[in-house]
Amino acid sequence: MLAGKHVLLVIGGGIAAFKALDLIRRLRERGCQVTPVMTNAAGEFVTPLSVSALAATKVYSDLFDLTDEAEMGHIELSRAADLIVVAPATADLMAKMANGLAGDLASTVLLATDKRVLIAPSMNVRMWDHPATQRNLKTLQSDGVLVVGPDEGDMACGEYGPGRMAEPLDIVAAIDHALSDGPLKGKHVLVTSGPTHEPIDPVRYIANRSSGSQGTAIANALVGLGADVTFVTGPADADDPVGAKIVRVETAADMLDAVTAALPADAAVFAAAVADWRVTSASDRKIKKDANGALPSLEFAENPDILATVSQMEKGRPELVIGFAAETNDVIANATSKRDRKGCDWIVANDVSPETGIMGGSENDVTLITADAAEDWPRAGKDAVAQQLAERIAATLS
Ligand code: C5P
Repeated sequence: MLAGKHVLLVIGGGIAAFKALDLIRRLRERGCQVTPVMTNAAGEFVTPLSVSALAATKVYSDLFDLTDEAEMGHIELSRAADLIVVAPATADLMAKMANGLAGDLASTVLLATDKRVLIAPSMNVRMWDHPATQRNLKTLQSDGVLVVGPDEGDMACGEYGPGRMAEPLDIVAAIDHALSDGPLKGKHVLVTSGPTHEPIDPVRYIANRSSGSQGTAIANALVGLGADVTFVTGPADADDPVGAKIVRVETAADMLDAVTAALPADAAVFAAAVADWRVTSASDRKIKKDANGALPSLEFAENPDILATVSQMEKGRPELVIGFAAETNDVIANATSKRDRKGCDWIVANDVSPETGIMGGSENDVTLITADAAEDWPRAGKDAVAQQLAERIAATLS
């Protein structure tokens, strides 16, 4: 799978840089071309000569090198590969990437690239656990950066914990996975997820109990099949999907804007539990208790139906539009009429009566309603349901 592929390997300045040498060897054994970029600090741990000898090509390290820029400028360098791998990804490099800094060749290439980026973090355990690094990690994952490791174990600095760079063969496996041509490669799929929050005043809002876990599972399964996923999420409890572009919103109106901005898409999966109403009487100041005990009254307006809006678009409608129907009674009949009313292609229907344990639980029991049939899927974990749906999407998109 790696034969004929081209990896741009950014080597950061950490003790694990020596493992980058083995990584180069393993990749080349598999027929993968490696172009190395070293930070100045990396040169303190491994020599450019060893890197160049193993990669059988020149090493790039200077942003302002006239010869390099004349041969292959930093922009060209950032685009020439199929994948950019950062190993070791030090705390400093991660911080630069998360903040869009471009002060040297490595960070400039990472900012200029239009290719996927995989990082193999490596640092002292306290540096890894530091809120700043964890914040940067979240930012990078939200930007669609893939992450392998770090592993847990004894560290060169004498401490123990997470922070060791993943082993070269594990990085090779992650590269292989990132480069594999899944059936959804080249397809853009939009997923909405989570609840929306509709403000009453600056501190209060109306919400619902959606955890976002089914939406996250669907996005992960789609990424696993090679799709470019845009994940538009309300304030959810579930973890962000890995490898998707994350767009965070709060209200239904924001969600509609984010969905419209993310189009065009080949398919769209509307798993969000969008609030049906927003408060039109929302105050920009905190509503105070009335001294005489008078209760506040709220006025509502109906929110835009995002699924119906996209399903009924005359221009630019995704080829496949999928909605969800959480019902407590007459599931099939209600979901079938919802499919007709909203104009989507499929409805994933489920029974969320409290006795099913589905709302907020880890399992789901769904019926897929298409134009031709209502298919009852066996009750399964939300990940398995997501995988089945993603495979069905892959089989349907032309
Ligand atoms: O009408 P109901 O809320 O039951 O429809 C559920 C489906 O419609 C889900 O796919 C949900 O994401 C979507 N929806 C939407 N915008 C709304 C309400 C629901 O996209 N305002």
